[in-house]
Formats: sequence, C-alpha cells, structure tokens
Amino acid sequence: MNRVQVRIEKAGYGDLMVVPHLEFAVSGGELLVLLGPNGAGKTTSLRALVGTVDVSRRTLRLDDRDLSRLSTWQLAHAGVAFVPDGARCFANATVEENLRGAFEALRPRGAQGERRRLLDTVFNLFPILHQRQGQLAGSMSGGQRQMLAIARALMIEPKLLILDEPSAGLAPKLVEELFEALGRIKDSAGCAILMAEQNFAAAMGIADSCLVLDEGHVALAGPAAEIRHNERLRVAYLGL
Ligand SMILES: Nc1ncnc2c1ncn2[C@@H]1O[C@H](COP(=O)(O)OP(=O)(O)OP(=O)(O)O)[C@@H](O)[C@H]1O
Ligand SMILES: [Mg+2]
Repeated sequence: MNRVQVRIEKAGYGDLMVVPHLEFAVSGGELLVLLGPNGAGKTTSLRALVGTVDVSRRTLRLDDRDLSRLSTWQLAHAGVAFVPDGARCFANATVEENLRGAFEALRPRGAQGERRRLLDTVFNLFPILHQRQGQLAGSMSGGQRQMLAIARALMIEPKLLILDEPSAGLAPKLVEELFEALGRIKDSAGCAILMAEQNFAAAMGIADSCLVLDEGHVALAGPAAEIRHNERLRVAYLGL
C-alpha cells in the first residue's frame, strides 16, 4: 500500500540547525505538499529525508520495512526517488539516453520489455518527451527538462516520489500541464508523493494534505481541504 512514515530530528548544515523536528506520513495515491516561504527549510527537510544533509536522527518506514539506515543510493533501490530542484538531467545526453540511464542505473541487466513498458508510461504522461526523445536534454526548455527529471524518477517505479519545487521558473501553462501529470501519477502509479512547492494555488489543486514550515518549524498541518481556506496560512505564510 506504500504507506510512508517519516521523522527527522535536527537537520541542518554543520552547526546550523535548520529543522529541529519534523514528522509526517503519506500513503500511496496521496500527495503531501510542503509549503512555506523562502528559507523555511523545505529543501533541507527533503534532503534530510534522502540523506544528503546532516541529520541527528532519521526514521523512515515504508509499509513494514525500516529504511532508516539506508544510504541515498540504497533508498533509490528501495523505491525512494528524489527529484531535486533545478530540473537536473544529463545535458549532453538525449532524452532517451537520460531515461534509459535512470532505468539501467538500478537495473543494469533489466529486461528490455520492462524498460519499454516504463518508457511507454512516461511518454504517455509527457508526450513532448516522446516527440523529443532524440534531442539533447541541455537544448530543451526548463519545463521540458523538469518533465524529463520527473520522468527519470519514474523509470525506477518509485513507491515514494519526492519533488523539490517542480514548478519553479515555469510558465503558468507548463505548470498546469506538469501538475496535471502529477495528478495522474498519483492516481495511477499508486506511489506516495511528497512535494515542496511555493506555488500554493497549483499545489493545492492536487494535494491531499499539507504541511506548512516556517523557519524550520511546522506552522500548520492537515488535510488540504481544511488548510486551503485557512486565513492564518494565507496571510501569515503565503502573503495572499
Ligand atoms: N548548503 C547550505 N549550507 C548552509 N546553510 C544552508 C544551506 N542550504 C540552505 N541553508 C540555509 O538553510 C535554511 C533553509 O533553507 P532551505 O533551502 O531548506 O529553504 P527552502 O524552504 O527550501 O527555501 P526556498 O523556497 O528558497 O527553496 C536557510 O536559512 C538557508 O540559508
Ligand atoms: Mg528549496
């Protein structure tokens, strides 16, 4: 069922402690959005979760498996895919090579049929990647590279998909397209999605629950349906 439970204690950078304590759960087919102003600690929290920033204690459970002690690389093998901010892909490789590389990194002897099936799935979600499969990733627009970065994550068939501000720098039309695809991933792939976002309106359109960070502390948490209209959130943290 892909039920993910997370607890992070004291995440930060050397002596700088950014997130003292954070705890949440998200299930397959659900999207939890992490909101908050610049510098609130969203990226730090996501990185603490995947083990790329210092954390004094991390608890991570996926159904009845305890993944707390796994490295970033081992987490990917366990089905935890992280899409960092900045739409990162291999610029000098084609779209198809980027996707194939993501599959082969985890399954070097993976069956061709499996790879084909996953390619078809991501091409179906992002038709532009199908049209551009022979194009160098570095020559595509920011929005197309963001789609490719997400598609790369999907090539490992994640149980937990973690996204850091996927809409950053994208034109409104592309944001709409991207979030529509994320909604479809959530509904069809059965993976749990954890997403940091600044685009409140777009995120709330597909979020099931949300967690608002303010200077590393949880300011608000709950079902999206309740938080959406929360005046305190809108005024204090989102400036709406
Ligand atoms: N590599 C780093 N070294 C030291 N401090 C850092 C580092 N990265 C972030 N910080 C600090 O940690 C705090 C939280 O930053 P973080 O990037 O987690 O915020 P964020 O919520 O993701 O913000 P944004 O919306 O700008 O992405 C900030 O005070 C930031 O200056
Ligand atoms: Mg960030």
